[in-house]
Amino acid sequence: MATPQQPNAQQNARLEQIRRQWAQKRQITDRLASVRTKIGVYSGKGGVGKTTVACNLATILAKQGERVGLLDVDIDCPNVTRVMGITDKPDYRDGQISPAEGHGVKVVSMAFFQENEDEAIIWRGPMIHNAINQFLQSTDWGELDYLIVDLPPGTSDSPLTVMQTLPMDGFVVVSTPQDLAIIDAKRCINMIRKLNLNVVGIVENYAGDIFGEGAGRQLAEDIDAPFLGSMSLNPSYRDTSRPTVLVDDTVSGEYVSVADELRRSLKAHGRET
Ligand SMILES: Nc1ncnc2c1ncn2[C@@H]1O[C@H](COP(=O)(O)OP(=O)(O)O)[C@@H](O)[C@H]1O
Ligand SMILES: [Mg+2]
Repeated sequence: MATPQQPNAQQNARLEQIRRQWAQKRQITDRLASVRTKIGVYSGKGGVGKTTVACNLATILAKQGERVGLLDVDIDCPNVTRVMGITDKPDYRDGQISPAEGHGVKVVSMAFFQENEDEAIIWRGPMIHNAINQFLQSTDWGELDYLIVDLPPGTSDSPLTVMQTLPMDGFVVVSTPQDLAIIDAKRCINMIRKLNLNVVGIVENYAGDIFGEGAGRQLAEDIDAPFLGSMSLNPSYRDTSRPTVLVDDTVSGEYVSVADELRRSLKAHGRET
């Protein structure tokens, strides 16, 4: 039987929880106050090149003189450090993370906290949510022009946490020219828009003779979003020592064009660039 005190205790606990959530959210907003533009790189499907796009876009922006951070929130498969060729660990002192740096980009990833690279991270939603919040609360990014966030696939836990806790300026959606990837891209676009957030553009990856070309542009037209560009299927990505924009001039040209289109789209969305 419930005693008269129990509802009060429950209410107090709930109020305390709400207070804590607000404090957390405020802390995250404060942490990101000196970050001008926050962009997520996203797709419902795995393996379409989200991490590749996030790392190469971050690298090309840094090469153009922007101050860039890269946050890897693919907690299960944190691959950003690999693609960026970063072996240094970030500084973790007094509960504060100072990002590691590679090719002019400041990087924070769950991979920094793994003992072994091939260790399986088997976490349920609330733990993923807490880990992402911890990163967001603890990282001292300093002044940034761009924070690029590499998201995992799917339309649940991690993407949802990022969309609900980070004040994002918009999302770049990655798709391949194949039908299934386009369907999954549409799913994630619906999620972004359901949460009242912006799709700042579509990129098509793996374009060329093997998978075809043009479906990304069509998708952009269908959903009335800007098309930022196409990246060809290219063997240069096999060199994993550095981001491919630093290895191959064609790839670098593709990303310069995507960065230009992204700035144009951000301006059209009323964002500072
Ligand atoms: N345009 C491309 N041409 C050739 N290989 C690519 C291209 N884009 C990505 N890759 C490769 O495809 C694999 C999967 O890419 P990744 O970025 O990890 O996908 P996701 O993050 O969406 O799961 C990686 O090995 C990457 O090097
Ligand atoms: Mg990835």
